[in-house]
Amino acid sequence: MPEIARIAGSLVVGDGLRGVQMNEIVRVGKERLVGEVIRLSGDTAFIQVYEDTSGLFVGEPIERTGQALSVELGPGLLAKAFDGVQRPLERIKKEAGDWVTRGIDVPALDPAKEWDFEPKVKEGDRVELGDVLGEVQETKSIVHRIMVPPSLRGRFHLIQADMDEKFRVVSISGGKHRVYDTIAVLADEEGREYEVKMAHRWPVRIPRPFEKKLLPEVPLITGQRVLDFFFPIALGGNAAIPGGFGTGKTVTEQTLAKFARVDVVIYIGCGERGNEMTEVLAEFPELEDPTRPGAPLMDRTILVVNTSNMPVAAREASIYTGITMAEYYRDMGYDVLLLADSTSRWAEALREMSSRLEEMPGEEGYPTYLGSKLAAFYERTGRVYPLGGRDQIGSVTAVGAVSPQGGDFSEPVTQSTLRVVGAFWALDSDLARRRHYPAINWLTSYTLYYGLVKKWFHEKADPSWTEMRNWASEMLQRDAELTEIVQLVGPDALEDAERVLLETGALLRETFLQQNAFHEVDGSSSLAKDMMILRIIRFFSERAMEAVKAGRFHAEDLHALPEREEIERLKELPDKECEAKIAEIEKSLKEKLG
Ligand SMILES: Nc1ncnc2c1ncn2[C@@H]1O[C@H](COP(=O)(O)OP(=O)(O)O)[C@@H](O)[C@H]1O
Ligand SMILES: [Mg+2]
Repeated sequence: MPEIARIAGSLVVGDGLRGVQMNEIVRVGKERLVGEVIRLSGDTAFIQVYEDTSGLFVGEPIERTGQALSVELGPGLLAKAFDGVQRPLERIKKEAGDWVTRGIDVPALDPAKEWDFEPKVKEGDRVELGDVLGEVQETKSIVHRIMVPPSLRGRFHLIQADMDEKFRVVSISGGKHRVYDTIAVLADEEGREYEVKMAHRWPVRIPRPFEKKLLPEVPLITGQRVLDFFFPIALGGNAAIPGGFGTGKTVTEQTLAKFARVDVVIYIGCGERGNEMTEVLAEFPELEDPTRPGAPLMDRTILVVNTSNMPVAAREASIYTGITMAEYYRDMGYDVLLLADSTSRWAEALREMSSRLEEMPGEEGYPTYLGSKLAAFYERTGRVYPLGGRDQIGSVTAVGAVSPQGGDFSEPVTQSTLRVVGAFWALDSDLARRRHYPAINWLTSYTLYYGLVKKWFHEKADPSWTEMRNWASEMLQRDAELTEIVQLVGPDALEDAERVLLETGALLRETFLQQNAFHEVDGSSSLAKDMMILRIIRFFSERAMEAVKAGRFHAEDLHALPEREEIERLKELPDKECEAKIAEIEKSLKEKLG
């Protein structure tokens, strides 16, 4: 009989477990706590327990399940909040009260709820793994595509032959069904039959298969000027937001959740502050979707939540739970954004488990495989052709916050992340202290996607996107150099042309880079507006430079021009009004500066 031999926090050592599989889920103790086998040695298994282990005793039984840690995928995931192992918080609360969640078995999807299934194929049709069999209106915003599950044959690692295999639709039935009712029967070439339900399970540690990965050539529009213009991320790309305490990681992640132009958002919260996650749980359901007026934001959002009373090991699982659900909606042909706040809490869970396993520690006690785990996680992002014969494209984009102690980016989690992500949005404590929000440092942040997405910007946004970007970057660079000089020797040493540059830099920083996430209009900025604002700043700068050089205007007087202040307030105007106001500003600047 398998039983508990030792308990060390969330690590349980079990004996008598010969034949158990790596990553198998076991139920631990009398309370049947959920645990995962993370190391094997003979008939001894090391088990990471996803629930509070207090009250467990040596000698209590361990049950095998034969299943890997997996999630349920089917209609009913959207608009829900789950814990790290995909138990729905709402129903846990109903069945077990606020705190006692231990050992409780609550399915992720409501097994009793009926969905209206509309078939898209008919009897006799030939389908492949991944093909769409039909649709369900999951929420007002999202149509849920029911696909032939890639695991139809019981395999999770597919080979080309699996992908090419054809199945005949033996029967399919529309109308009201529960998630585990059979909606279709498929037969393979040998005549073996398979029942298909609307839901299936997928092991979270195995990436879901797809047909083909595509180049990340389409930007993910965030509505944040500093990101869209200077450090864009591509659909299917990944980015990190490192920053010390209070620099704006959570605000940035939540702003992306609200405004990013994607179909589905999966928000994984680890709750760095006491009741931060409680706030998310209370606030998100109240939000309206800014991209679909009239619909709640939750209609296309899934929350994966680790509150502070949940054990650390569940945090480790939560990012896999999250990304597997993301891949599932990607497979339907949607653009999915996965937000994780913060991956440092995940890395700490990894460190804790590693130390309990008495593994050889790497830098700062993190396991030596921290880097490869992070890489494998971010590797699951991408823009793909899903399995099956569709030409629909889906994507998973991931943005992970990193919270280094004291904002010191040289620590292992930040460094390992920096090596694998394509965009790095560095939050800066100095900027945050000066209330320059978002506190994204424009000199140290970077993106590797610009070369790939610039064609899109030229064709869909503005042909002079790159030219304007180069101009603005150069101005900001000069501004930084001049600011340093002023700090050393004072402003009197400046020449007139340099004063114009400093004014330009200040306008770029205060008008363009700063953006108030909580402002009704300024919270999200369109690409057209980004360009309008830059054009008028450039106009101001170039006219001022000529006027000052020709002696028509004193550089010292630039700052007090009312037009300058009008430019600063442009971002608070809706696009149309902004455009009209700019025409006015331009006209009066021409009169004053020539
Ligand atoms: N883009 C922004 N717009 C307005 N205020 C912001 C912005 N980013 C951060 N802040 C301010 O900074 C505070 C701390 O941000 P938060 O995201 O909680 O920090 P972190 O998660 O890095 O600890 C917020 O409560 C807010 O007042
Ligand atoms: Mg935070």
